[in-house]
Amino acid sequence: GKESRIGTALLAWYDREARVMPWRTGPEAWRAGERPDPYRVWLSEVMLQQTTVAAVRDYFRRFTARWPDVHALAAAADADVMAEWAGLGYYARARNLLKCARVVSHDLDGRFPETVEELRKLPGIGPYTAGAIAAIAFDAPAVVVDGNVERVVARIFAVTDPLPGVKPELTRLAECLTPQERPGCHAQAMMDLGATICSPRNPACGLCPVRVDCAGYDAGLQAELPRKAPK
Ligand code: ADE
Repeated sequence: GKESRIGTALLAWYDREARVMPWRTGPEAWRAGERPDPYRVWLSEVMLQQTTVAAVRDYFRRFTARWPDVHALAAAADADVMAEWAGLGYYARARNLLKCARVVSHDLDGRFPETVEELRKLPGIGPYTAGAIAAIAFDAPAVVVDGNVERVVARIFAVTDPLPGVKPELTRLAECLTPQERPGCHAQAMMDLGATICSPRNPACGLCPVRVDCAGYDAGLQAELPRKAPK
């Protein structure tokens, strides 16, 4: 059906066009069935919680150069981590990052849990981050819905009811789109589509890999969705 066609088209697009980021692996790794390092996935997702990809890049490089695995980070002095974090903001994230590293290093033998439920028990990991880590690091078919993904889903299914009320419906529709195959790449493909082609104001529908299945485009509503309830 439409959902599986969209899933396939998105993955093919991701294989060609995925944005290169220091925490992502590339097509060779996907083809070889190699998983990314959960430590790097976790660190990047925590950094990306309230910060843009552009701002996170250099911080991620410095952190991983200085603390290449979770044991190294767990052993770091609090003041050193806070100093490396300076500029990223939301400093509670850095404190939780250290707490989490210490739990994983000391109590879990350095291994991150693989399920959303277990990941959520760790400091600083909410539902979104748990889903992202489960999908990207462990290829669990977790649903990963941020603002970009909400917009993509609202457009693909021409959902005209306003946010925030329609959020559960958008999550359900995002779930329908999540393939069993390569859910981690799928999650990041949805993020990339939302960040590049399916942009808020002037979506580049001419370049979109799923335009033929986009009900929003069919209805001419692409630039108007998702709607927001007046405050
Ligand atoms: N935002 C949050 N996680 C991301 C990821 N893995 N890739 C791109 N943008 C993101």
